[in-house]
Amino acid sequence: MIFAGVCTYTAQTQSLWVDTYTQAAVSSADPVASSIGVEIMAQGGNAIDAAIAVHFALAVTTPRAGNLGGGGFMVIQHSDGSSSALDFREKAPIDAFREMYLDEQGEAISQKSLLGHLASGVPGSVDGMVKAHEAYGHLSWHDLLQPAVELAREGYPLRASQAQSLNAAKDDFSLFEGSALYFIKTDGSAWKAGDVFRQDDLARTLERIQSEGRAGFYAGETATALIQEMDKGGGYIRQQDLDEYESVWRTPIKVAYKDVELVMMPMPSSGGVVIGQLMRMLEMSGASFDSPQSIERTHFLVQLMSRSFADRATYMGDADFGEVPVHELLDTEYLETRLSTLSLKKHTPSDEISHGPIDGWTYTTESTETTHFSVVDGEGNAVAVTTTLNGSFGSKVAVRNAGFLLNNEMDDFSVKPGTPNMFGLVGSEANAIAPGKRMLSSMSPTIVTRDSKPVIIAGAAGGPRIITATWLAILNILDYEMNAMEALTFPRFHHQWYPDRLLVEKQTLDPDLHRTLTTMGHEIVESSALARVHLLHIAEDGVIEAAADPRGDGGTAGF
Ligand code: GLY
Repeated sequence: MIFAGVCTYTAQTQSLWVDTYTQAAVSSADPVASSIGVEIMAQGGNAIDAAIAVHFALAVTTPRAGNLGGGGFMVIQHSDGSSSALDFREKAPIDAFREMYLDEQGEAISQKSLLGHLASGVPGSVDGMVKAHEAYGHLSWHDLLQPAVELAREGYPLRASQAQSLNAAKDDFSLFEGSALYFIKTDGSAWKAGDVFRQDDLARTLERIQSEGRAGFYAGETATALIQEMDKGGGYIRQQDLDEYESVWRTPIKVAYKDVELVMMPMPSSGGVVIGQLMRMLEMSGASFDSPQSIERTHFLVQLMSRSFADRATYMGDADFGEVPVHELLDTEYLETRLSTLSLKKHTPSDEISHGPIDGWTYTTESTETTHFSVVDGEGNAVAVTTTLNGSFGSKVAVRNAGFLLNNEMDDFSVKPGTPNMFGLVGSEANAIAPGKRMLSSMSPTIVTRDSKPVIIAGAAGGPRIITATWLAILNILDYEMNAMEALTFPRFHHQWYPDRLLVEKQTLDPDLHRTLTTMGHEIVESSALARVHLLHIAEDGVIEAAADPRGDGGTAGF
């Protein structure tokens, strides 16, 4: 199938200026953190060292998503052609139970899994960074933490967006002693751009991690502060949870597309399998579209998205707690059955899609404030990290005396199978709450390789839109030869099966074509920015194109 295509979007993608570097680069949600990563590489550190330093810097500069009290995933493509995937996702506390967010009638209690101490899973970020450093770090752990310690102690001038996000959460911060102390100005006035933001307790916690490693977070003074905070607010995390938390090296998912291979996270990230299905179905269909802006392409990709998200909701969850049919979900014959129900003329309503049939499987979803960064070094190592507290500033609870925020990742479980979470995602048994289990995620750190060398390092923030935004950005480069900035600037769309709506970015869709898609059965909803992608593209001449999503105010650095 080759479609010439009628344009649907208004986009300026010609000759967008893109940062270029020749040896090493970082793209992240914060220009200061990106520069820290690059400084580490200039001192002789590799991409893994840089990623660790960026992670801790983001915990200081981007408290709404960067974190010590959250979790995430790291995908590495090593210079020798091998790859690794590190899962430092949070786990449900030992005392957690399936109905913990339901009332006596079995209905989900609004906000209970989102706001306050009960919303937190056991944090994985510090353990994850320690593990990554033990396995592949080159510079000393002390040196990787030092920039974050200094930033927290000396403070930094807030950008307008940082001030605004702190002000927007003021009412919630006022509910919790630590958060009010750390994030509301002592005179109660609003934060302004240029205010210097210092975090002394956070600096002390970072110093303990710097000198004691894992024990600086999961034991001693930091752990005591965390447990006291839990006791104060009726949360479930206790010392045993901290003692038992372990991040895990997993086998990456690899999926071929044309002449490249995508290296991605396996469960409990749904991103790898869903992007894998989308890529495979697109290639298997033989469909090719002259223009990335056509009605035909938008319609077709949406049909693929809704089918894959139906599978996500049905089959995916923590594979340590119940098998997930990953092999079957990526199988050619299975994907052919999914493609066979697709019409080129008419949107298939979500009620008629359901999941595909996999013998012997009954059934079985997850969030917007997250942060992604991409790193490449001069030796050819590449690292993609996505990390989160889930919602903006997570549970809004900062640990008194330790200065860091706790996640509200428990909302990424199916609190009540079949009931939508804060992103409207539904899920099933595979993602029900159980003690020690990891909640399903949409985070999709992805490295595209050609001949085992990194070509694109990408990922996003934005709940379930992470998956579709990462996929579309990669396709823009692979199929339409856009540069990294053009690929990120191009308008996005998103469908996640339920709710049965096609989200398009505001004012990007031509009104006539809006009508055409509507007559094809799409319910179109305009949305503000759909996700924020941070991407590096190593062009054929070896030049590293680096782009931070123009929908945010992140930045790139490199040399
Ligand atoms: N909390 C966002 C995600 O893991 O997908």
